[in-house]
This record gives sequence, C-alpha cells and structure tokens, in this order.
Amino acid sequence: MIDGLERNRQVKEYICALFCAEDNDLEFARENSKKEGLKEIQVPANVGKMLYLLTKMQNPKKVLEIGTLGGYSTLWIAKALSKEAKIITLEIGEKQADQAKKHFENTSFSEQIEVRVGNALTTLPEMLYKNEGPFDLIFIDADKENYPTYLDHALALSRPGTLILSDNLIPKRGPIAVPDATDIEAIAIYEFNEKMQKHPRLDSTLLTTIVGDKGRIDGLGIALVK
Ligand code: SAH
Ligand code: DHB
Ligand code: MG
Repeated sequence: MIDGLERNRQVKEYICALFCAEDNDLEFARENSKKEGLKEIQVPANVGKMLYLLTKMQNPKKVLEIGTLGGYSTLWIAKALSKEAKIITLEIGEKQADQAKKHFENTSFSEQIEVRVGNALTTLPEMLYKNEGPFDLIFIDADKENYPTYLDHALALSRPGTLILSDNLIPKRGPIAVPDATDIEAIAIYEFNEKMQKHPRLDSTLLTTIVGDKGRIDGLGIALVK
C-alpha cells in the first residue's frame, strides 16, 4: 500500500496535469527565477490556479500582494484580471523585485502590475496614510513572523466584500495548533489563524492545499470582509 504522503503527491500531480497548465509567461517566470537563484518557494501551480479562479470570481479592480518573489503568483492573479484592474505587489528584496519586473515586462498586462520595493511593514502603513485603499483582493504571502501584523494592515486597506487570501497557513512541521515555543514562524501562523477566525469583520476558513514535491498538506486562508 502507498503511504498517505505519496498518495497526496500523486493527487497533486493529477490536479496539476489536468487543470493547471502554465502559459509561457508563467513558465518563463518559474524557470528564470530558478536560473537566477531565487528560492523555489513560489506557490505550486495547483495553488496558482486556485488564486486565478478566486480572482476571476472576485473580479477585483484593485489587488494588493504582499511578497512578490519572482512574480509567479502575481502572474496567476494578473491573468485573471479585467483590463482596467491594477495589482500592486510588495517585495523587500531588490533582486527579487528586479527579476519579477523582468518577468512582467513582456506580458500583455505589464502596465497593470506595479512592484513596490521595501519592507511591507513600512510600505503598508504608507499606503494607508496615502489613502491607496480599499483593495478588492489582498494576497498575503511574505515573511510568516509578520502575518498577524499583515492581517491588521490588510483589514485597514479593505472594504466590506474584500477577499483576503493567505498562503502557508499550515506550518511545515511540528504539532498542529500547538507550536513549539522555539518555532516563531509556526507561533505566528497559528496566531494568525485564530485572529482570522475570531475577527468580527471576517468570515473565514482554510482551504487545504497540497504543496512541495512530497505531497505535504498546507492551507490557503480565505477570508471575506463583512
Ligand atoms: N508570492 C510569491 C512567493 C513569495 S515568497 C509566489 O508565490 O510566487 C515570500 C517573499 O516575501 C520573498 O520574496 C521575500 O523576499 C518577501 N518578503 C519577506 N519579508 C518581507 C517584508 N517584510 N516585506 C516585503 N516582502 C517581504
Ligand atoms: C516557503 C513557502 C512559501 O510558500 C512561502 O511563501 C515562504 C516560504 C517555504 O517552503 O519555505
Ligand atoms: Mg507562500
């Protein structure tokens, strides 16, 4: 009998092969990111396709992404946008931001994407101060330690009906819901999940996803602002 993880891996392969074909823009972004030495921590194609469909359903005019990397998830979202929609994506690393811009450059929606370089802990309050909200869709996918803070900023930049999506809501290791005292990322993620659940302005759940090449279960947070 095959074990659970191997079966999960096969399910992920099956879903990706059947539903999640990449176009040339996505393939170039993923392959060139790897070639340029960026960490291979972009969303898997099965999660990318989910972001694409959720974006289509939301039909946002203004999208905010926290954590660009090479722009792979940005492209999945951008593919689902109407022509008048815009996406601002926040990235702390110059190298990541430069690569992402290169991956957007020759796409048909390059004019719709703005990469903003800086620490999101600074750029988010600036956006609030400059009244750049509200956004219709927000995707949180940066440093896990700051997820609880990003949720506050996301809410401040939201309106009733905003969809807040968040990647990686099941930590990679350790006991579920009761993180080790030394695992600051897991502590922040479980705190984030409880905060998302308890928040009076949110209706939320975790959609389980299969990630990585071993078939690990992760969670995509789906929260609708009331
Ligand atoms: N959304 C991307 C993956 C993002 S990985 C995709 O799926 O394709 C997380 C990214 O967040 C990294 O590129 C990292 O440099 C960036 N990051 C980490 N801390 C940050 C911060 N404080 N502000 C902005 N970006 C940050
Ligand atoms: C990792 C994966 C992610 O999706 C992310 O946003 C950050 C880190 C990881 O596998 O380390
Ligand atoms: Mg992620």
